[in-house]
Amino acid sequence: MTDLSVVATPAVVIDLAQVDRNCARVAAYAAEHGLTWRPHVKTHKSAQVAARQLAAGARGLSCATPREAEVMATVCDDLLVAYPPVGTDRLRRTSALAERVRLGVMLDSLESASGLSEAVGRVGASVRVLVEMDAGMQRTGVTGVDAAIALARDVDALPGIAFDGFGFYPGHLRSAGPEADAELVRLSTTVSELRAGAESAGLVVQTISAGTTPLLWRSHEIAGLTELRAGTAVYFDRTSVVGGVCQMEACAATILATVVSTAVPGQAVVDAGVKALGREPMRGGEAAGFACVRDRREVPVVRLSEEHGVLDLSGTSWRPHVGDRLQLVPNHACVAVHNFSDMTLVHPDGRVETVAVGARGRGHE
Ligand SMILES: Cc1ncc(COP(=O)(O)O)c(C=O)c1O
Repeated sequence: MTDLSVVATPAVVIDLAQVDRNCARVAAYAAEHGLTWRPHVKTHKSAQVAARQLAAGARGLSCATPREAEVMATVCDDLLVAYPPVGTDRLRRTSALAERVRLGVMLDSLESASGLSEAVGRVGASVRVLVEMDAGMQRTGVTGVDAAIALARDVDALPGIAFDGFGFYPGHLRSAGPEADAELVRLSTTVSELRAGAESAGLVVQTISAGTTPLLWRSHEIAGLTELRAGTAVYFDRTSVVGGVCQMEACAATILATVVSTAVPGQAVVDAGVKALGREPMRGGEAAGFACVRDRREVPVVRLSEEHGVLDLSGTSWRPHVGDRLQLVPNHACVAVHNFSDMTLVHPDGRVETVAVGARGRGHE
């Protein structure tokens, strides 16, 4: 296959030259600020894309699922599973991974730490542990510095696992504007309290890990941070554009769609609905809709059925025709990519190749 024009739609198309530019930019930022770049792979779920991140300077990868970690272990020997290792399946697969790669796990409870300790003990492996603290999102992570240090001490006392530092996910900050200023100061204070408290308890803090794409270019303002986990930045998306993190040209993952109807005046319908784009609202953004046309950002997808996406043409004099093929930028690239079992790679030399989104789904080993 040599041509995008013959790819069946809807399809997720990855512009690898743009991926490389995005990676180079993040790598340069991380190097400038002395941060270890450990991108989160949940965005691409692809060993091929991960290999490009590693070639660009990533010093390890972050994963959420056992499936992601198992696939990434084929291209990387230093992984962080930034998700609590709870349940028999996760523990079995996590400890099996610890036999193959240098493995870190982020967790927030004594229950999960004890389970991990027992599981890795059974296979004779070892795992480094980051204690997760809630940075304000109220999702996972212990509440408060004292609780984080208490868990760190407990972790350190367990066999098979070694306390390595702290992690958090500042997912409550969806914009890097002035409204983030006070939060960045507060997070810096928290990091310094975590380090001081842990050290006075006799613990060695090697790693302070965090990162999220909306805040990407201000990550260095979290004083004491050592590791950057931003994930979406490999592809960026409409949310990143609206949030001012990047230009539309930086969006490397688009959904190729065909106009299937223009019967209703003022709109055009494409064959990319919820099952392609995801029904993801703009997090913290003011832009309407679930996606937009890449080359016409004034044209959003404002309504979705499972297999239909409705383009609102009220802001443009452009009138697409039935059969036209368009590239859409989804609000949230990670969710859109996960809707597809395959993706179409456009290589920097123009070669077009369709490959599996290999780390998608739960899988098993
Ligand atoms: C634990 C964790 N770390 C890092 C990330 C990366 O965040 P982003 O995709 O905003 O860069 C995520 C995103 O969901 C996450 O859940």
